[in-house]
Amino acid sequence: MCGIVGYIGSREAYPIIITGLKRQEYRGYDSTGVALINHGLKVFKKKGKVAELEESLLGKNLSASIGIGHTRWATHGEPSDRNAHPHQSASGKLAMIHNGIIENYNQLKQELLNKGYKFNSDTDTEVLLNFIEEIQKNNQCGLEEALRIALKRVTGAYVILLLDEDNPDTIIAARKGSPLVIGIGKDEHFLGSDATPMLEYTKEVVYVNDYEIAIVKADELILKNLGNERQTPYITKLDMELAAIEKSGYEHFMLKEIFEQPGTIYDCLRGRLDATAGTITMSGVQNNIETLKNADRIIIVACGTSWHAGLIAEYIIEELCRIPVEVEYASEFRYRNPIIKKGDVIIAISQSGETADTLVAIEKAKEQGAIIFGIVNVVGSSIARASHAGAYTHAGPEIGVASTKAFTAQLAVLTMIALKVAKEKGSISPERYAKLLFELEDIPEKAEALLKNVEELKIIAEKYKGSADALYLGRGYNFPVALEGALKLKEVSYIHAEGYPAAEMKHGPIALVDEKLPVIFIATKDDYHSKIVSNVQEIKARKGKVIAIISDGDETITAMADDVFTVPPADEIVAPMLSVIPLQLLSYYIGVAKGCDVDKPRNLAKSVTVE
Ligand code: F6R
Repeated sequence: MCGIVGYIGSREAYPIIITGLKRQEYRGYDSTGVALINHGLKVFKKKGKVAELEESLLGKNLSASIGIGHTRWATHGEPSDRNAHPHQSASGKLAMIHNGIIENYNQLKQELLNKGYKFNSDTDTEVLLNFIEEIQKNNQCGLEEALRIALKRVTGAYVILLLDEDNPDTIIAARKGSPLVIGIGKDEHFLGSDATPMLEYTKEVVYVNDYEIAIVKADELILKNLGNERQTPYITKLDMELAAIEKSGYEHFMLKEIFEQPGTIYDCLRGRLDATAGTITMSGVQNNIETLKNADRIIIVACGTSWHAGLIAEYIIEELCRIPVEVEYASEFRYRNPIIKKGDVIIAISQSGETADTLVAIEKAKEQGAIIFGIVNVVGSSIARASHAGAYTHAGPEIGVASTKAFTAQLAVLTMIALKVAKEKGSISPERYAKLLFELEDIPEKAEALLKNVEELKIIAEKYKGSADALYLGRGYNFPVALEGALKLKEVSYIHAEGYPAAEMKHGPIALVDEKLPVIFIATKDDYHSKIVSNVQEIKARKGKVIAIISDGDETITAMADDVFTVPPADEIVAPMLSVIPLQLLSYYIGVAKGCDVDKPRNLAKSVTVE
């Protein structure tokens, strides 16, 4: 995790770096720091968010046209001033920021300790930095050469940016496993973990590849591999506007992103789905249709919310395509020597496209010959690039740390893929296919309608904000929605919550039910509706408080529940895109009512680039 920013050119570096760091705080926010060179190297760093560092530097001379900055998500060493980046080398001449983990840092540290080095922090970053300086000293070589030698000894993931007081016209950067984007301006360059720090200055960017070193001057960008061979930078045009990463009048990004969903689902379907013509146009699917429709098995790998989208996709693909699907936590899949056979297709789902566990899982599966299909939100991200084929979700930048609009966009893409494969395979009837296309096309409008009516959720949030625990229950397609609802509540309100299949509740969790426990049922109309009505009764019989998300017109559950929120009726296959929205909002309102930082919940980071 961690966000990194760099600038070199003729502008003032500090404001560009601070603004860039604020945009990247979704990646981590437990400490912040900047290093600038102007008549010597200056390093400022502090525990806390970017705004806290900024405030502490008011009135200081920060003028410089070269600098780097870091917003941290702690891996080695607690969040503190001394563990904040940038770190300085023993000589004080080098400053470095790092995103990732140096796995063999202990071994490197021991070597340095044996040589008499002392460390000012508990970080792996300071170890790597001194390791580089030690090589420089021993080999009497330049920083670039020393870095190259050092990186050959390093295992783990990194993006690093280095400043050298003796070379104040150069930033040296390197990447393996963590993202690095370089923006190209006129006689200036911008560096970031993503493109947000450079949006208002340039639309031309280079995504640096693994095992590449960038030597960045104001008027020159040189890329080399670890073998010291020059690489041609591949310039990509950014398709993102500044407005997309601003709050646009909303109190929080999370709220903005929840309310954006009618538009983001629409954007995801636009140009792909034409219900009237009965077509779904997705080149990534079409170009691989034989592989997909003849797959013996589909394995979905993902983490967190994306994993929940994968669970819903399991139900949809098995139902419509009749292909067996397994859904795996990427972190488990990669370590347990999974059996991957020829004819298996791996679908990797990721909002950020940078989640380390998912990335490594697909690399491993690729080595075993699997075809990787990526469903990713961030264009040009590592998972998108590591996939053989794929489909973007087009939800736009998601800044709130708790994922919302990316989830519904993932569902929209997965449903289209399932429908297209099912049609090609002949595993769906023409009538059902046609009906589901219209159902999908109607989702943005139905989402818009339900978002007009959310005042009730604020009242429910007030009622239950003091709860210590909550239980989320759903059946069928709504079971993963229950998991997602529970995850959202935990993340943004710190209330302990669990999601369960509604029927499974009687095998254990029912013991938790008392008059204080809120039980949230996702009980929209589907094939199992009568069953879930019985489950609601079981909870009521034990005096639990029932909050139910139901379809418009459902009188049965309305009569039994303590609180209800209605969503427009929809086919059960597409209904999760609607039923999840009130759960996102309920978590948001409870988090706000409790005074939690909903956009940046404690201990979390949006892009989990450590394993
Ligand atoms: C939950 C959340 C996380 C992510 C998970 C995977 O709100 O944001 O659980 O879903 O870290 O991230 P991506 O989708 O970027 O791979």
